[in-house]
Amino acid sequence: TTSKLSEENKKIAELAPNTEDSNGEYINTNTGVRINDDHNSLKAGERGATLMEDFIFREKMTHFDHERIPERVVHARGSGAHGVFKVYESQEKYTKAGFLTDTSRETPVFVRFSTVAGSRGSTDLARDVRGFAVKFYTEEGIFDLVGNNMPVFFIQDAVKFPDLVHAVKPEPHNEIPQAASAHDTFWDFISLMPESTHMIMWLMSDRAIPRSYRMMEGFGVHTFRFVNANEESCFVKFHWKPLLGVHSVAWDEAQKISGKDPDFHRRDLWEAIESGNYPEWELGVQIVPEADEHKFDFDLLDSTKIIPEELVPVQRIGKMTLNRNPDNFFAETEQVAFHIGHVVPGIDFTNDPLLQGRLFSYTDTQLIRLGGPNFQEIPINRPIIPVHNNQRDGYMRQTINRGRTSYSPNSLGGNYPVQSTVAEGGFRSYTEKIDARKIRERSRSFFDHFTQAALFYNSQSTPEKQHIVDALRFELGKVDTIAIRQRMIGILTQVDRDLAAQVAYGLGLEVPAEPEKPINKGVPADPTHDYEPLPPQ
Ligand code: HEM
Repeated sequence: TTSKLSEENKKIAELAPNTEDSNGEYINTNTGVRINDDHNSLKAGERGATLMEDFIFREKMTHFDHERIPERVVHARGSGAHGVFKVYESQEKYTKAGFLTDTSRETPVFVRFSTVAGSRGSTDLARDVRGFAVKFYTEEGIFDLVGNNMPVFFIQDAVKFPDLVHAVKPEPHNEIPQAASAHDTFWDFISLMPESTHMIMWLMSDRAIPRSYRMMEGFGVHTFRFVNANEESCFVKFHWKPLLGVHSVAWDEAQKISGKDPDFHRRDLWEAIESGNYPEWELGVQIVPEADEHKFDFDLLDSTKIIPEELVPVQRIGKMTLNRNPDNFFAETEQVAFHIGHVVPGIDFTNDPLLQGRLFSYTDTQLIRLGGPNFQEIPINRPIIPVHNNQRDGYMRQTINRGRTSYSPNSLGGNYPVQSTVAEGGFRSYTEKIDARKIRERSRSFFDHFTQAALFYNSQSTPEKQHIVDALRFELGKVDTIAIRQRMIGILTQVDRDLAAQVAYGLGLEVPAEPEKPINKGVPADPTHDYEPLPPQ
């Protein structure tokens, strides 16, 4: 049964002291005082006003008044599950990460799937990207693989993320539309950002309306680094391959399901796990030797590009099984805090400017979303190994650190952690050689926005291509500003002229005889784009 399996999981065991079963107990206050009547407030006389003195009423109501926390600024709607990960064969050639080298380990995981744009109560079936965030509770600390169900992203530089999200979220004056990309602000932004074209092809494809969370691929998107015990590094892209295969619904089905059961994906995941039908994914890696960094005609640091599997095959190195539903949605799924900066020895970052910006954003937002600097002490966020450092105090501190000192170096002794040195092991950033000038311009190696968009479109079967055409007609058909529709047709001509022609026909527009700006690798396709290409080197 589910509970038997979960007993073997170190994280579940670690959570146990925080769980609470009130069944059959007497009701009492938060200070432990037994309550003798939970149905009536204290009044001045049988029909009189409620008394300020009623501390039992006030405590209950005050707690209720504070039950909500801000929803995530993106990925607000999600569903979580516990599980385990096991590596098939030691990956020590590439990485020293214990959970990827020790084949005897079953590493506990907590996964949260999500939509991106909608609010907490929005439908599961929106046309949207899906988040696929995995927290590995490893023996060397927490590793978070905070991915999506699409392998690329809208933008190349994190500085554009607030603009992207402002464009995709409901419009600020009337908060319409909820959880849909079918509106002027979204397509206005997209049509002015040619770098988003590859992602738009994925977003308009069947990938954006999954049949089930259990039937989605996952991707780390960025190129990461593996580092082995000899401090040798290689590049790595992470993939999750669902053992149930990849399946989608048709748009017409999605709209009907949204009306009848907006919890469709949440319910599907919950019921599959409750009935012992545990969903499974294999972890895949694409490995690129450091020496091959510049071998491709795209930049490994550009998150709008994939590494085609024909060039670098995906090796399946382990399996994740989700085998236990959370006990409490708020305590676990809502309070979980993923962060791309949670890495363990053996895994490191690259200079992808999107990845680099995310390293700042997650902790920053969680400081407000989860109420201060101690959110790592919330049960679902704690590592399975004890935490020893000199960080202290702050709102809602749970740990009672003993001893007189909390600094290092330290000659007074007492209860303080020893200073970590390189000799003692621990995380050591990869010593990548840097010799460069500080600049703000985008790298020229990021300027080809259309080759892979066309690659994706052309990889689709005839019905799948038709779905992309239909999606673009539907979404752009909701855009009021004709100039935006026309600008999108211009972008589409750079992907595929037939695609552009079909969408234009559906919208009653003309296709420009020639693309307004011919495809010109190395130059942004639209003059309104807010950066200038560097002069030729
Ligand atoms: C959630 C920022 C790009 C995947 C979030 C959150 C923020 C954020 C602030 C809310 C976190 C919270 O409240 O706990 C950013 C920024 C990005 C970016 C600034 C780019 C500059 C991406 C990309 C991916 C991604 C490229 C996928 C590879 C996710 C996922 C979640 C999330 C899966 C939900 C995590 C959960 O389930 O709690 N992001 N994000 N994000 N982001 Fe990003």
